[in-house]
Amino acid sequence: MNPVTALKTNPFVLAPMAGITDHAFRTFMKKLDTSVVVTELVSANGIEYKSERTMKLMSFDESQRPIGIQLFGEEPEVIARAAQVAEAEGCDFVDLNFGCPVPKVVKKGAGSAMLKDPVALQKVLATVKGAIKIPLTIKIRTGWDANARNAIEVCNIAYNEGIEWVAIHGRTRAQGYSGLADWDFIADVKAKTKIPILGNGDILTARQANLRLQQSGCDGIMIGRGCLKNPFIFMDALSLWRGESPKEIQRDYVSLFNGLKSEIVAHCDEHITGIQLRKFAAWFSTGYAGAAQFRKNLFQSKSNEEIMALANEFFAGLGNVDQEDTSSEEFLMGGHG
Ligand SMILES: Cc1cc2nc3c(=O)[nH]c(=O)nc-3n(C[C@H](O)[C@H](O)[C@H](O)COP(=O)(O)O)c2cc1C
Repeated sequence: MNPVTALKTNPFVLAPMAGITDHAFRTFMKKLDTSVVVTELVSANGIEYKSERTMKLMSFDESQRPIGIQLFGEEPEVIARAAQVAEAEGCDFVDLNFGCPVPKVVKKGAGSAMLKDPVALQKVLATVKGAIKIPLTIKIRTGWDANARNAIEVCNIAYNEGIEWVAIHGRTRAQGYSGLADWDFIADVKAKTKIPILGNGDILTARQANLRLQQSGCDGIMIGRGCLKNPFIFMDALSLWRGESPKEIQRDYVSLFNGLKSEIVAHCDEHITGIQLRKFAAWFSTGYAGAAQFRKNLFQSKSNEEIMALANEFFAGLGNVDQEDTSSEEFLMGGHG
C-alpha cells in the first residue's frame, strides 16, 4: 500500500529510531496499532558493500506493511543503487534521511548536512526517484540552524520531484535534541506547501498526538520516543482519532513484555536480546513506583532469564496504577534524525 494512502485510515506513524525500531520492535508495535513503519537508518554505502549487518537491518515481514526502508548516504548514485536493492527486498517505499545530526554522518555531507545544500539534495531526489518504481519519502529537520530554517524550500523541491511525503522533526540540526519541537513552524510549512507533511517531535500522549494533528493540519504524525514510555500510545491515539473510547484491553505489561521478548528472541542472538530486554523493560517502567530500583536490578542482572524474572515481577506488581507524568525529565536526548 502507498504510505500516504495508509495515513487516511491511520495517521500515526512509528518514527525510525536506530537500535530501537528493528524487525522485532516494528512487528511488536504493529500489533499495537502503529500505521506505517520505517526501518532504522541504513547506510547506502553498507548496501553497496553488501555488509551482512547492513543487509539484516532491511529485513521485515508481511505484518509490517506498509514498511519503508530508510537510507542515508552522500553520493546520489550510491543511494540510488541502494534504493534499488531496497526495492528488490520488497519494501513498500524508500525513505531518505536528511535529518541525522550525528557528526560522523554530517561530516561526509549526509543526513541533515544535505539541508545546507538544496542543489545537492535535489540531485539526490531526482536520481533516486528515477531509479525506483516504489514511492519515495524523506525525513528532515526544520533546517540546519536558526538562521537557515529552509524546510519550505526543501518541501517545494520534494514536491517538484514527486516525493510522497516529508516528515519534519521540528528542531534544527543545531538544536540536537534540546529545546522543544517547533510545531508552529511545522504548521506554517504545512500551510505553505503542497506536499503531504508528517509532523514529528515530543509527542508523549494520545491526546497530544490528536491535538497536534488537528492544529498543525498535518497529514500524519510521527511518534518516536513517546512509544518507549507508553507502548499503548498508538492504540489510544487511533481510538481517539476514530472517536471511540480507548480500547477496553487490559493494559497488561506482563503479557505485553513477554510478547516483545518473543519477537526479540526470534530475531536477535542472546547477547543482543539481553541488551534489548534491559532497555525496553527500563523504558516501559518509566513513571511507575519503584522504577529506579527496578532499573538498578535490571542492569546488574547476569542472564536473560534473570531479566525476565525481574521484569515479570515488576510488571505484575503494577496492577492498575496510573503512570506518572515524566514529560519534564530528559529522555533519550540523541539519535539519528
Ligand atoms: C535513539 C534514537 C534513534 C534515532 N534514529 C533515527 C534514525 O535512524 N532515523 C531517523 O530519521 N531518525 C532517527 N531518530 C529521530 C526520531 O525519528 C525522531 O525524529 C525524534 O526522536 C523526535 O521525535 P520524538 O520526540 O517523537 O522522539 C532517532 C531518535 C532517537 C531518540
